[in-house]
Amino acid sequence: MSARKPAEIAVDDLSEAEAKRELARLAKEILKHDRLYYQRSAPEVSDAAYDALRTRNSAIERRFPKLVREDSPSHRVGAPAATGFAKVRHRRPMLSLDNAFDDDGLRDFLGRIRRFLGLPEDERVPLMGEPKIDGLSASLRYEGGVLVQGATRGDGEVGEDVTANLKVVKDVPHALKGRSIPEFVEVRGEVYMTRADFEALNREREAHGEAPFVNPRNAASGGLRQLDPALTEKRRLRFFAYAWGETSEPIEGRYRDFLKRLEAYGFHVNPLARPCEDVDDAIALYRRIEAERETLPYEIDGVVYKVDRIDWHERLGFVGRAPRWAIAYKFAAEQATTRLKAITIQVGRTGALTPVAELEPVHVGGVTVSRATLHNEDEIARKDIRVGDTVIVQRAGDVIPQVVGVVIEKRPKHAEPFAFPERCPECGSHAVREEGEAARRCTGGLVCPAQAMERLRHFTSRDAFDIEGLGEKRIELFYKDGLIRKPADIFTLEARNGRDFPNLTEREGWDELSASNLFVAIRARRKVPLDRLIYALGIPHVGQVTAKQLARRYERFDRWRRAMREARIDESEARQDLESISGIGSILAQAIVDFFDEPHNVEALDALAELIEVEDVRAVASASPVSGKTVVFTGSLEKMTRAEAKARAEALGAKVASSVSKKTDYVIAGADAGSKLTEATKLGVSVLSEAEWLKLIEP
Ligand code: IVH
Repeated sequence: MSARKPAEIAVDDLSEAEAKRELARLAKEILKHDRLYYQRSAPEVSDAAYDALRTRNSAIERRFPKLVREDSPSHRVGAPAATGFAKVRHRRPMLSLDNAFDDDGLRDFLGRIRRFLGLPEDERVPLMGEPKIDGLSASLRYEGGVLVQGATRGDGEVGEDVTANLKVVKDVPHALKGRSIPEFVEVRGEVYMTRADFEALNREREAHGEAPFVNPRNAASGGLRQLDPALTEKRRLRFFAYAWGETSEPIEGRYRDFLKRLEAYGFHVNPLARPCEDVDDAIALYRRIEAERETLPYEIDGVVYKVDRIDWHERLGFVGRAPRWAIAYKFAAEQATTRLKAITIQVGRTGALTPVAELEPVHVGGVTVSRATLHNEDEIARKDIRVGDTVIVQRAGDVIPQVVGVVIEKRPKHAEPFAFPERCPECGSHAVREEGEAARRCTGGLVCPAQAMERLRHFTSRDAFDIEGLGEKRIELFYKDGLIRKPADIFTLEARNGRDFPNLTEREGWDELSASNLFVAIRARRKVPLDRLIYALGIPHVGQVTAKQLARRYERFDRWRRAMREARIDESEARQDLESISGIGSILAQAIVDFFDEPHNVEALDALAELIEVEDVRAVASASPVSGKTVVFTGSLEKMTRAEAKARAEALGAKVASSVSKKTDYVIAGADAGSKLTEATKLGVSVLSEAEWLKLIEP
């Protein structure tokens, strides 16, 4: 039976080992999305999908508390501050909120509070409810009533100093109003953009040929991070205050009174904030705000409830990243149905094939949607999505709309299951799926236009061909203008200059000297060590270390090329040989084989090889008595682990194989050696004990 994929197992059914793997995966995944969201303001998944990841992470951690990782996302809010601004350490961390997704989630929230405080049944938990503004939070520090510093949340501990930018946000007072001003106070709240300003901004951007923003939140986030405050000002950002950080005098009493105080200071406080006496009241407020949502001048994505007794805040404290005294009851993602006209395939810069739903345009979540992601091949099969289907599209105040399912009753008679292409739509190369990977990838790395620029950048980079004067920018320009489309083109550039395209010196920013410098730099790299060449090819998973190992093992380019072509046959000796190299497992071997299985790549490689001189790599340590010998370890060793033994043998130039053949020079047999020992005896291969082996290699 194949191993179950932890990602697909319900939390309650996970074994401990699966939970551990799943927590590792979620930590990585959530960090990636945090970075995209907080540092690049370019999220790739919907809020709902992101929340689902976090919720799953927390649920697993609750079930297996001892598996909680050091780098668990629940210890962290957001992502580390991006560069460009000075860092600010928040004197009190800026926290996030736990989410509820239905009425029961809200009831559970109140239940937890009651239990935690040990409240009697009849004691009420007063709440304040207010819209959850879809913007980004900021902290404003006032000393002697004067704004001295403004910062973004960053990772909750350290944010960015964006004081100058916050000063041009209209609703941010430069000085607090009123008489009883504390010595210092930090006021926190949400920076946002109104729908009207967002639309005007996008119209203007489009008129200037700039890409429009996807939503007001991204526009606000980008606006606050402008290096020039004049540009921030143009975004007409706004601010609602709703929390505090460090204060010289304790904040006491009721949250509703704190909001009044903020207003007296001169802040805007959301006018829809209301007290709720019990859970029914809170639910009624949720429904009212939800009904009003579309008519509000700004985007909101839920209702935040906070315990209306600040003394209880202290007692309730925090769990992980969120206070126990507050919760965000999120709105459900908006859905609509529409017809799926076609499924197209996009090829990413790394060759991943992503299916995209081409839809009959439909209005959902405040925007018109005509395309939605279908994620990957399995997702289409799992949801059985077919061209012609009526599908349910979802968008949750977010970026990429999703197809959540199919309205089966409306399926046209002849709709066929979708056959995922096995060839790359961009270049026609084979598209393959690796074990354990969701994405199918184009293997035409060297020739695929979707990947070409990325590959060429890698090819010329420092650790690869290291061509001075051919950095990312130039590669991009040369690629776009058709001067360099594949690696071989780099080495024919000089010959083609002024013949197949106008002389480089006629290009902007170029002169005789810079052109001749470039050609000198290229010529200098015509001679390249085998390992650099292997690394430069950009075969998936083949980093510098693997490239070096391959180069050492095969020594010469032609030998390597031939062996890799032969290794395409499963079970072939060449394949076994490849897999026997330490650190090269079957997945890596498969990636190399896939590369060589694609004729386009071999063509491109051969064209390149014609133009360059590949330097042989001599196997190391030829003086060692085991250099060049093939050895096989079997049984359990006493003095070292198998991995260590293997690494040491390889460092001395031996080749460590996993099975015994006529070519084996030595079999090193530890205790309880089994069939390999029998085989060795049968074939007449020398058998050494561990001690004999050590004597041989230790001078
Ligand atoms: S209170 C310690 N109130 O939602 C509690 N947050 O998902 C601090 N947000 O980080 C947050 N509207 O950026 C609070 N009325 C509101 C809010 C609000 C939007 C944001 C805030 C927070 C995030 C959590």
